[in-house]
Amino acid sequence: MAKLDWHTYPGADEVARAAADFIAEQAAAALQARGRFRIVLAGGRTPEAAYRLLRAAQQPWSAWEVYFGDERCLAAEDVERNSQMAARALLDLVPIPADQVHIIPAEAGAAAASTAYAPIVAKGAPFDLVLLGVGEDGHTASLFPGQALDRTAWTVAITDAPKAPRERVSLGLRGLRATRALLVLACGAGKRGAIAAWRAQEALPITEVTDGADGRVLLDCDADPSR
Ligand code: 6PG
Repeated sequence: MAKLDWHTYPGADEVARAAADFIAEQAAAALQARGRFRIVLAGGRTPEAAYRLLRAAQQPWSAWEVYFGDERCLAAEDVERNSQMAARALLDLVPIPADQVHIIPAEAGAAAASTAYAPIVAKGAPFDLVLLGVGEDGHTASLFPGQALDRTAWTVAITDAPKAPRERVSLGLRGLRATRALLVLACGAGKRGAIAAWRAQEALPITEVTDGADGRVLLDCDADPSR
């Protein structure tokens, strides 16, 4: 892969299937090359179906190491946490060793959690695959338009996110780009504008994070402005 490959599918179910297949492919390549697979999971709703499909994948789960691209500053068991979504969809259902699932301690508050998670990200990098969603405003992870993007920060504390909750922790540009490949998922007509702006290279977090990166973008027809 020398660049981002863009693929458009009829609907969200096909995007989820293609995402699960790509993740499994990347895992096989990483395991072959390095004996382990380090993946950074995306939050939000879009990736959940792909995580559910991965349950059936025949994977050497003990060689997987899981990180999170961002987390909402909510109680650890809050169902709205990205870590809880991933646990329900996949992590509680496959035998990845608990000490290889690196949950962002966002319940401690953005500043403390960002400080605590930064060395974990630095130690885990470079990742084999970073998953990303795209917001309707062009945000990705919890990097939102209008925020100064510190290129040196592994993690960032967010206290004014326009998408609830306002307080979050995100991998910074450095953390999200410290990977062999990216996988970006976007479904639904609400994302058309953000995808069009990204394709026009507008200065958005999704543009900055993916600029020059290797990987794959999976859209459904509704999210693809060229359809
Ligand atoms: C979050 C995610 C966020 C998400 C996008 C897309 O905490 O919600 O980190 O970046 O990936 O907002 O969300 P959907 O997949 O729900 O559209």
